[in-house]
Amino acid sequence: MPFVLPPSLLEADDVALVTAFGKLSVLEACAVLGNSVKKAEAPTDRIAALRVEHLEPRILAELSGSHKCAPVVQTVDSASEDPGQLADMMAAHLEEKSNVSMSGYGVAEDDYEELVRTMLDSLRDRGLRKVRLLRPEGSELLSEQVIARQSLDVVAFPYHDGFALGPTVWVPDSAEMRQKGTRRPAPHPDIALSPRLARTLVNLAGLRPGHTLLDPFCGAGTILVEAYAKSLRCLGVDSRASRVQETRENLKWSTGGVEDRGYDIRKGDARDLHRMLRGTKVDGIVTEPLLLPRLDARPKTATAQAMIEESARVYNDALASMAECIHPDGRIVVVVPVVQTMDGDEVTLTLEGRRLGLRLYQPGPVGFEYPVRLSFESTRWIRRAVYIFEPRS
Ligand SMILES: C[S@@+](CC[C@H](N)C(=O)[O-])C[C@H]1O[C@@H](n2cnc3c(N)ncnc32)[C@H](O)[C@@H]1O
Repeated sequence: MPFVLPPSLLEADDVALVTAFGKLSVLEACAVLGNSVKKAEAPTDRIAALRVEHLEPRILAELSGSHKCAPVVQTVDSASEDPGQLADMMAAHLEEKSNVSMSGYGVAEDDYEELVRTMLDSLRDRGLRKVRLLRPEGSELLSEQVIARQSLDVVAFPYHDGFALGPTVWVPDSAEMRQKGTRRPAPHPDIALSPRLARTLVNLAGLRPGHTLLDPFCGAGTILVEAYAKSLRCLGVDSRASRVQETRENLKWSTGGVEDRGYDIRKGDARDLHRMLRGTKVDGIVTEPLLLPRLDARPKTATAQAMIEESARVYNDALASMAECIHPDGRIVVVVPVVQTMDGDEVTLTLEGRRLGLRLYQPGPVGFEYPVRLSFESTRWIRRAVYIFEPRS
């Protein structure tokens, strides 16, 4: 693990990522893979199709916002076209009774059935008559099932008027991520984001081991725990003493109980960082303040607008404070809320960085539209969107 097929299969020009957060995952891939990304498309909500020069397979393991990675081995014009190249490649890795599966993303039901049938026919033509087809619920074999069932899983998605096909070569270790969220001493599912999202946000800051990451609204420390696991020095601030204590407990737990000097968690105000840090600069800032009252139902649009306006003052004052203490090469990653209203609208908070000497971060060949919204969130009324700023040099 996490490679389910030889990493050498990723020596391909085009690879597909099955995304956990939609556009935010595409942004993460562009930030982590850097200049080697020559083209990035999102043919469906769940897929990032990338052209990457010299993809280093070990870098993939850093991508928290992806569920699978597959080289695009073949494109076909229709679901009934023989996927011969794919079948050749699969045949080289299958035994007589191996499990195979197809995971369709954005593929209509009829096309999915046809793609499965032509894949099986093509495998039979190569003498593989006894491979076992696993039929996932829906049309996706989840990444942990790919491992548990030892399946050669094919990712299929609509691409340029036809379909693109490729074998799942890499999946992340999802179980470890989930356990981190539930087993820590102060889990706080009410305020905390998921470890997977926290790690994705930390990756977006683009820091190296030894760099300092600041979370000025650290809550229960979910972001800092992920930063610490990447060997970053952690600086946390929260206005409530109880949260400061909880962050310390969670960090201590994440290090196996060892009190460590690699983190510094303080009670303070995110709007007053310059004074607190005495003018020193940090290498990156990642934060998810989510400063809205608890909602039990979708509010009216006017109520949502009033809530967002009320919290905007704190966000903007805090952003000004962050701009003062970010290193000239650093990034500021801020999550903002998107409220879903009972009138069917979405109300979000706008952050303006220009007047603070900040510009929006644009990695790779894609122009990202900010704030970048997360797809597939479980929360019903408040969703998330992300801004990334960097100082204008
Ligand atoms: C939603 S929680 C953050 C949760 C965090 N992302 C996590 O996963 O644990 C927001 C935190 O911001 C803190 N807070 C609110 N206003 C603040 C301010 N002006 N300065 C610093 N912290 C503040 C609250 O005490 C709360 O713990």
